[in-house]
Parts: sequence; structure tokens; C-alpha cells
Amino acid sequence: MSAFRTLDSAELKGKRVLVRVDLNVPMENGRVTDATRIDRILPTLNEIAGKGGKVILLAHFGRPKNGPDEANSLKPVAAALAQRLGKPVAFACDCIGVSAAEAVAKLGEGEFLLLENTRFHKGEEKNDPAIVDALALLGDVYVNDAFSAAHRAHASTEGLARKLPAYAGRTMQAEIEALANALEQPARPVAAVVGGAKVSSKLELLGNLTKKVDFLIIGGGMANTFLAAQGKKVGKSLCEHDLLDTARDILKTAAANKCQIVLPTDAVVTTEFRAHAPSHVVSVDHVGEGEMILDAGPKSVAEVEAVLGATKTLVWNGPFGAFELAPFDAATNAVANVAARLTQEGKLLSVAGGGDTVAALNHAGAAEKFSYVSTAGGAFLEWLEGKVLPGVEAIRA
Ligand code: 3PG
Ligand code: MG
Repeated sequence: MSAFRTLDSAELKGKRVLVRVDLNVPMENGRVTDATRIDRILPTLNEIAGKGGKVILLAHFGRPKNGPDEANSLKPVAAALAQRLGKPVAFACDCIGVSAAEAVAKLGEGEFLLLENTRFHKGEEKNDPAIVDALALLGDVYVNDAFSAAHRAHASTEGLARKLPAYAGRTMQAEIEALANALEQPARPVAAVVGGAKVSSKLELLGNLTKKVDFLIIGGGMANTFLAAQGKKVGKSLCEHDLLDTARDILKTAAANKCQIVLPTDAVVTTEFRAHAPSHVVSVDHVGEGEMILDAGPKSVAEVEAVLGATKTLVWNGPFGAFELAPFDAATNAVANVAARLTQEGKLLSVAGGGDTVAALNHAGAAEKFSYVSTAGGAFLEWLEGKVLPGVEAIRA
């Protein structure tokens, strides 16, 4: 973390502190249905307020394309935030201009203000210097606590960090540290579990990981494409038949980098894609023409367990099987719980994130026991792809 300025060195007393957070939370009928992202930023907000800063929150919500609209307003999120904080949170109906300036002017030390959706201004996503300047007028100091939006080079995530004295918030700091421990200077051997439906959505990620990890454990629908690339018949299973050469290239790169690819050796097959469809276990060499693979089998799970037992660091992205359909969640649950147990025993550093991953680990009852679970979707994936995250780069000292 030496490359980042943290809150430890920030002068905050009496300062107007613009804090970029990720409040892109799931909502239904105007109510927040999962407050994880809100809870993660509370330590940063409380610390800044506790040190006498005036906390001015910048965030986006959804992907509005045509200016302000009620469906993408952050107003209901301000109420949820106030509730989790246990303190009032003022709200301004624009993130720049007169209404924002007036709300900021009213703010006392240790108080909180949320500004309306930054994406209501087109210049936000364009990282327009005019928006950066307008935002900068509102603050003395900038703190970024939104790792999960750091793959976007927007005015509030990138431009502003270059304009004001910039610091990493505590959640940003924790994310960067966890990710660095997992892939930049990991204790070896290091393994990655990569699951999910499609190879096509994770090509760059697989390519990068084959160069960084000792074991690449492939699960989910994408494993079928690799099995097919090895000449196996996968019946009606989800499989990207146009990507067999690509899959073979990934296997070659892995071999050249001494990365061992771990694929299922047995599978749970069925003829219908639905929960509780009649199923049985077969070797991956004997999948019937009318059958589809919906999960890895018990022998595969035991093999993965053996790999994890010999591993010191684990990065996890994506589910193992069709985890949303019981009983095809068995391999995901079993492997997640093995990783959780090894972590609790102090034998494994486990870091998970991206898309469906948190839902799958929550479903398995394992998320709480991992060393670190990122709230980031796209940002976590881009980091796994080895990409530079503009929001992180901009706060490097
Ligand atoms: C997310 O939910 O992944 C982040 O808030 C980023 O949102 P975006 O994908 O709309 O940029
Ligand atoms: Mg996203």
C-alpha cells in the first residue's frame, strides 16, 4: 500500500471531503434489497466525520443515458445510508452547480451530504474537464472508496483524483491489499477457480491467469468447452463449439507457463434444465448424446479438494455448476465450503469476487468465511484480466 496515500496521512479537520463511493445497490420498489456496498463504506465515512471532515458523497446509480430521471435517483439510497449510519444524511438534487454548492455550504464538521447521481451529467462518463472542475469547486480533498467503480475513467472516479489532493478510503485500501496479496505477491502455490457459463466472456481473464497461477480450476458451463476441445462428447451441454481452438490455445499457454489446468473428470448429467430434474453421475468420457452436464461430479470435487489442500492462495470467480438449480449446486457448495474451512484453519488465503460469485458463495454459506469477498463485479474481472484500473491509478502517490 505504500504506493497509495491512505486516510492516515489526510488532513481532514474542517475540510470539505469529496468521497467517491459505490452506491449502485440492488433496489426494488424504491427500497435497497442488499446493503452490502453501503455497509462496506461506513468505516471510511465514520472515520472522516470523526476527524472533523465534512463528508460529501459522490456516486452513480444505474446507467442513465438522457439526463436526470426518477428511476435512477439516489434519493432513496440517502435514506438507506442514513439508517445504516445512524446519522442524518442531507441530499442535494444535483451533484454540481448552485444546489450542490448551497448544500455543501450548510454542512458542518462531521456531517454527511449525498449528491445526486453523477451520471445525470453526460460529462461524467466522458471524464469531461468541465465536470471535473465543477465537482472540484465543492471540495478541498478527494477520497475514493469505490473500488468497484475503479474500472471506469469517469470525472468522479479519475479526473477529480488528479485535480484535488487524493486518498484511498479504507474499503479501497482493503480491496487493493486483498487483491495484491492474492495475485501480485501471493504465497504459492496459488490456485484460481474460474466458473460461469461462457469461455467467451472470460477469455482475457483465463489468458492472464494461466500466466500467474499454479492451478487453474475450471468449472461451470465453460468447462464443457474445454472438455470438447479435448475431443470429449458433451451431448447437449452448454458448449461454445466455435471456441474449441481458443480453448486449445489456452491449454497450450497454460502448459508453457507450468500452470496446471484442472477440469472435471466426472459430471452430473440430466436431460432437462430444471431444478430436481432426474440426474446421474457419469465419467466425462461417457456423456450421452441427449444429456447435459449441469454440475461437476463427486470425484471432481475430491480432486479439487486435493488441489486446494496443497494451495496457499485462492482466487475465486464464478460458480461451479448451475448453482441456482438444486441439486446442481452440490459441487459449488462443496468446493466453496472446503475453501472456507481451509481459510478458517489458517491454511489458505481466499479472495473472491465478480458477478455471480458472491451470490454463489452466499448460497453455499461460505462467503463470510473467505479471507476477502470483493463487492466489485466488472472491476474485479478487469483486475483478474491484468488490466490497469483508472480509478486506482489516479490515486497512486
Ligand atoms: C457496478 O455495479 O459494477 C459498479 O457500480 C459499476 O457500474 P457500471 O458497470 O454501470 O459502471
Ligand atoms: Mg458493472
